[in-house]
Parts: sequence; C-alpha cells; structure tokens
Amino acid sequence: MNTSLASPRTLDVALGERSYPIHVGAGLLQDPRLLRSHLAGRQVLIVTNETVAPLYLDILKQGLDGDLEVQELILPDGEQTKTLATVTRIWDALLEAGFNRRCTLIALGGGVIGDMTGYAAACYQRGVAFIQVPTTLLAQVDSSVGGKTGVNHPLGKNMIGAFWQPRAVIIDTRTLDSLPERELSAGLAEVIKYGLICDLPFLAWLEEHMTRLRELDADLLSEAILRSCRIKADIVAADETEQGVRALLNLGHTFGHAIEAHQGYGNWLHGEAVGTGMYLAALLSQQLHWLAQVEIERVGAVLRAAGLPLSAPANMNAAAFLEHMRRDKKNLDARIRLVLLRGLGDACLYDDTSPILLEQFLQECPRD
Ligand code: NAD
Ligand code: GLY
Repeated sequence: MNTSLASPRTLDVALGERSYPIHVGAGLLQDPRLLRSHLAGRQVLIVTNETVAPLYLDILKQGLDGDLEVQELILPDGEQTKTLATVTRIWDALLEAGFNRRCTLIALGGGVIGDMTGYAAACYQRGVAFIQVPTTLLAQVDSSVGGKTGVNHPLGKNMIGAFWQPRAVIIDTRTLDSLPERELSAGLAEVIKYGLICDLPFLAWLEEHMTRLRELDADLLSEAILRSCRIKADIVAADETEQGVRALLNLGHTFGHAIEAHQGYGNWLHGEAVGTGMYLAALLSQQLHWLAQVEIERVGAVLRAAGLPLSAPANMNAAAFLEHMRRDKKNLDARIRLVLLRGLGDACLYDDTSPILLEQFLQECPRD
C-alpha cells in the first residue's frame, strides 16, 4: 500500500461567513494538522459506528492527542438506526462529558453518521461546530456537503432535521478501499445523478470509465468525487435552503424515498433506491415526450453498469408509492412535485403530472 500523503485538492462551498472547504486527497486521515485547523476549541467528540471504528477511528485519533479533550461515541450501524433516539445518545455523551458551546463534533462514517452527527451539532446548546469526515462514496460526493442534517421517521425519510453547515469536509479517498461493492454502487448512483441533472459531459465521462471506477481506480475515483463535489458546492452556494435549484439534487429521490420507507429502512440502500428512482423519473419524462427511447436506454445502461437496480420492488403498487410521495418535502399545496428530465443533463421541477397519469405510470412501471 502506498502510504505517502498526496497534496489535497480543496474546493470551497461559498456561503459567506459560513463558507467552508472540502479537502479531497489520499491519506488525509493521517494529516492531523488539517483536522486540527478546523476545530472550534479543545473539546472534541468523534461520532462513528461499530463498522467504521475498527477501520479508521485509531488513525483519526492519533492526530488528536496531546492538548485536546477527545471523547468517542461508537453507535450501532445501519439506516434503521437513523432515529431521534440515536441522536439523543450523542447529546447524552456531550452532556455527560460536560462539553460546552466551543466543542466540535466529528462525523466519521457514511451518510447515516454524518446526518445524525450534524443534527446533533445543530441542536446541542443551539448549535456547535462539526466536521464531516465521510468514508463512503455516497457521503463523499453528496451527504457530507451542503448541511442537510436529520433523521428518519417511521412515516417518512429524513422528515426531522435542520440545515446546519459543517466547518469542513475532509475526504480521505483511501477509505474507499474497504467499502463493500454494493455500497460503492450506491454511491455511484449519486455521482450519475450529477451528470443527469446538469452535466452531460460528466455523464459521458462516467459511461466511459464506469468499469474502472468500480475497480477502485484511485485517480478516476478522485476525479469523480471532485467533479461531484464541485457541482454540489455550486448548487448549495446558489440555494442553501432549497428554495429553488437545490431541489434538482433530488432527482430520483421522491420515488427512492418511497421505496426505502416502504421496504423498511436499510433493506434497499439509499443509493439503490435513488438509482431505481432516477430510472423511473427518466421513464416518466419519456411519457411527457422529453426523452427519446435512445436516451432511456442510455440512462438504463449507465445505471446497470454501476451495478444498480432499475425495477421497483414487486411488493409496491401505485398506492404504496403515492402514500409516501404525498408526504415528500418538495410538495407544495398538496401537489406532488417531481424532478424530471427535459433532456439528459437538463433536470427540472415539475408539479403538473396528472394524478391519473402518475397512478397509471406507477401501476405499470418495471417491477422485479
Ligand atoms: P451508511 O452511512 O449507512 O454507510 C453504508 C455502510 O457502509 C454502513 O454499513 C457503514 O458502516 C459502512 N461503511 C462506511 N464507511 C465504510 C468504509 N470506508 N469501509 C467499509 N464500510 C464502511 O450509508 P451511506 O450510503 O453512506 O449514506 C446514506 C444516508 O445518507 C441515507 O440516510 C441518506 O438519507 C443520507 N443522505 C443524506 C444526504 C444529505 O444531503 N444530508 C444526501 C444523500 C444521502
Ligand atoms: N442530497 C440532496 C441535497 O443535499 O440537497
């Protein structure tokens, strides 16, 4: 294994006084100065889970010895643990350690740990600092950037939460070496999403390099992460609290969140549900005569090449989809708002789908 530290590449999320850097590089977990430079004070709580802790907690902690007061909290793993009850354990740990407003939370893990730690930071003593150290591809290209934090509710995905920006995002691309193949595919769904919503050349690049990305080619993965983070950072800078353009980042998510909630959190991975959701969004766009058959085949091929499912679960009928879709956060005035594709690389928000057409579409869409 090559243990030398490459110089990180840094992007900025431009949000005025809440701006922050995204550092991307191989071996960044072993660079204590980087992490230390973003701490708010001396008190630090590292939040991670029982899968990630044995892999990376010691490496991270090595850089935080000496003058700092460092605590760790190792949570159980899994999307089904992304609940208010689990976040309460983070608050318990902070209070038991006597942490004050100048403490810093470090989220070491995937999107579940990042979303919960960010939400805990948003609420603890009305808001303290946190740093994202994402270790899944999905978290590196999406969930660690942009400040959406929160938990699931039995009635809906990510229904409880807050916008709370991290102080920094530190992406060590070497953490992907230990990521299970299925999780890599789930992360690729969000990468493909950026191409589909606004960057056709990036989509073509992904089509060309998908095999080597799945073989963990380090240079290509770094480029995919940087290009994804650049797009996300720009969209977040333009619309931090999702009043407009940021909603486009939800391509596939309205269908996807319905699948995740209906199947029981954790049974379909978030990225898998988003992959299928993006395919369904493309098929619905075709019904509106926005996409041609050749473009549908292209969307299907790139998702399949990434190892993602294209069919809705057999046990989900239209009514099951609609029950969840009616509660989607994007909806206004009881109309279901979807992100659809006017063309490849050209997403739009659409709330004019006739209920009858939508129900028929969901009844007839591809199923396992
Ligand atoms: P996850 O956090 O559950 O991680 C996936 C699995 O990989 C877990 O078992 C985890 O323990 C394990 N893991 C993490 N890093 C590893 C590593 N380096 N090596 C081996 N195993 C590792 O899932 P995820 O896909 O990272 O994130 C999904 C979550 O993110 C969902 O809850 C979703 O709603 C949320 N999300 C949030 C945003 C946002 O903007 N906040 C955006 C997209 C997704
Ligand atoms: N993942 C969607 C967003 O951050 O807005």
